[in-house]
Amino acid sequence: MNGLMGAEGPVAPEKITAQVIDRFESTPDPRLRLIMQALVRHLHAFVAEVELTEAEWAAGIAALTATGQITDEKRQEFILWSDTLGISMLVDALAHLAPEGATESTVLGPFYVADSPLREYGAEIAEQEAGTPAWVHGRVLDLDGAPIAGAELDIWQNGDNELYAVQDPEAPDDHLRGRFLTDAEGRFAFRAVRPVPYPIPDDGPVGKMLEATGRHPWRPAHIHIVVRAPGFKNLTTHIFDAASDYLGDDAVFAVKPSLRREFVARDADDPERPVGVEEPWVSLDLDLVLAPGEDPGPVADLGRTH
Ligand code: BEZ
Ligand code: FE
Repeated sequence: MNGLMGAEGPVAPEKITAQVIDRFESTPDPRLRLIMQALVRHLHAFVAEVELTEAEWAAGIAALTATGQITDEKRQEFILWSDTLGISMLVDALAHLAPEGATESTVLGPFYVADSPLREYGAEIAEQEAGTPAWVHGRVLDLDGAPIAGAELDIWQNGDNELYAVQDPEAPDDHLRGRFLTDAEGRFAFRAVRPVPYPIPDDGPVGKMLEATGRHPWRPAHIHIVVRAPGFKNLTTHIFDAASDYLGDDAVFAVKPSLRREFVARDADDPERPVGVEEPWVSLDLDLVLAPGEDPGPVADLGRTH
């Protein structure tokens, strides 16, 4: 007996797992107890399944450390991990099972900025040159097709330089974002630009993971929309350009087929062109359908990435 080994011999790996799970048995909050015990069970099963080496464990710790170091009030690398591992979409899928006919939700993403300016029906959200003009118009409806008056649409998107305003030191703060209210018939309209595909920030640990695993950082072109109306569930979604690249291999798995829409090409002399447009443009006809329910509160500003 050398003192390093108990009378029963070395500790079996399963015994370690059982001990840790048991240690959480005293957690007063039952939900927290369930989460912590399941977390330990799954983490331990993962380590055991891949037979994680000490060097691989150290590489994992280094990646988490780098994630903390690069994260600040403007850069949220933890959410990028969640997005690129499909966790964000899984949480979204569990939280928002849209009833038949309701517009589906997708991820918020890290470029949401609260308190966008309230703009008039039909107003332009681009505050400087940003690409092909896009006239976006439609209605906000309930599940029976009845219009919802006074619904608020919160819009943000990128321009043809691939950047959101929060990523672009040259852009005015309110560039390519705005809030709009529906009229008595539930109608809204705004002038945007055709969004373009863009890479998620890939100069940090998530980018290293994408590179090492042969994945790309690109997202298909989309416009972000949050819709809020009293008596209805908040809808956080994107509208994807059906002609975009990367619809089948979005870096963050956020494309749902029902969210693809055609941006219709229109000529410069099309009589329906919006005021001030003198070049080829596109139009997007978009009805958004809300599910009834309680407003779950404001969309959290989880931290921006740029
Ligand atoms: C976005 O759509 O803005 C986004 C979503 C997830 C990760 C990065 C960007
Ligand atoms: Fe986006």
